[in-house]
Amino acid sequence: MNPPGNQWTFLHVNDSHMGTARSYRFRPAINKRWAAIKQQMSEIDADLLLHGGDLTRDGDTHEFEYQQAREDLDTLPFPTFVIPGNMDVGNKHASQTGVKHRWDPKGLGWNDPDLNMTAKRLDLFSNYFGPLQWSFLHRNIRFTGFYAAVAGTGLPHEARFWRMLERLPDLPAAKHHVAVMHYWPFMEHPDEPAWDLTDGDQYDNWYFSIDPPHRQRLWEILKASNVEILFCGHVHTGRPVQHIDGIRLYRTQAAGNTGQLAERWPEADTSFGFHRCDVTDSGIDVTYIRGNDQCEEFGTFGPLGHPPIEERDYSVAEEQPPIQPDADL
Ligand SMILES: [Fe+2]
Ligand SMILES: [Fe+2]
Repeated sequence: MNPPGNQWTFLHVNDSHMGTARSYRFRPAINKRWAAIKQQMSEIDADLLLHGGDLTRDGDTHEFEYQQAREDLDTLPFPTFVIPGNMDVGNKHASQTGVKHRWDPKGLGWNDPDLNMTAKRLDLFSNYFGPLQWSFLHRNIRFTGFYAAVAGTGLPHEARFWRMLERLPDLPAAKHHVAVMHYWPFMEHPDEPAWDLTDGDQYDNWYFSIDPPHRQRLWEILKASNVEILFCGHVHTGRPVQHIDGIRLYRTQAAGNTGQLAERWPEADTSFGFHRCDVTDSGIDVTYIRGNDQCEEFGTFGPLGHPPIEERDYSVAEEQPPIQPDADL
């Protein structure tokens, strides 16, 4: 039962990154933090949960982790509406064109074009979690979710993404519009420049945000469709809400994975948690709730980052039998 007076609640969470000890790498602390958050959320009488992507540790190569995350979310006592993150389906598009040599501006040992999302992975994700973008009405709120990182891929998924977004301003209006995306739309401001991924000083900005001109096109649509609240994750670091162009932009804490770039902002919050959104006649109150388990890292094995498949050693898996990278990526 919902409280009287038309008051009701929905939840938002992102970057739960559930992994498995059957993999070539595992961070049990992430699963433990997420389990506590999930328990806390399940005790709230919420209508629904929005999940802003990165449900998995290595879902971009392990279908097993899609299944695991799906079954995990299905234990919650309310429906979950999901968008993918880059660890689920692959990163935003990096072009190989014009690059004569392998770049590695951050010395991370990976080649970004190798990490691009693929149509097969996006489709497989949809098989488990539904459409990559969606918009629906519930109790006079429009809820919209999308994976903006498809912009610039040239995949059919990009055309479908823009088609749905361009329709948003003409869909039946609601009292509020709440949207969820995975990448930050921008680091600080919609008009900031395009970031150069081959420049080590700009690489992080490129990695965590949406490129022009897609960024501005997206932002104009969100304004035109009266989005009031926009959640985004991916960086794993919470920042104070930014009020910009009538939109409340929430750059959110993660639900288990480690914060990044926190040294940039004195108010950055790298704790783990979720958002409780209470809807009343006067508006939507968004409250960040810290997870009950903020445990330190423990029992970690395997490499970090984005190791190429050929460099992975599944024999180190602590739980047998180990999973394997999917044959058809
Ligand atoms: Fe993430
Ligand atoms: Fe991410």
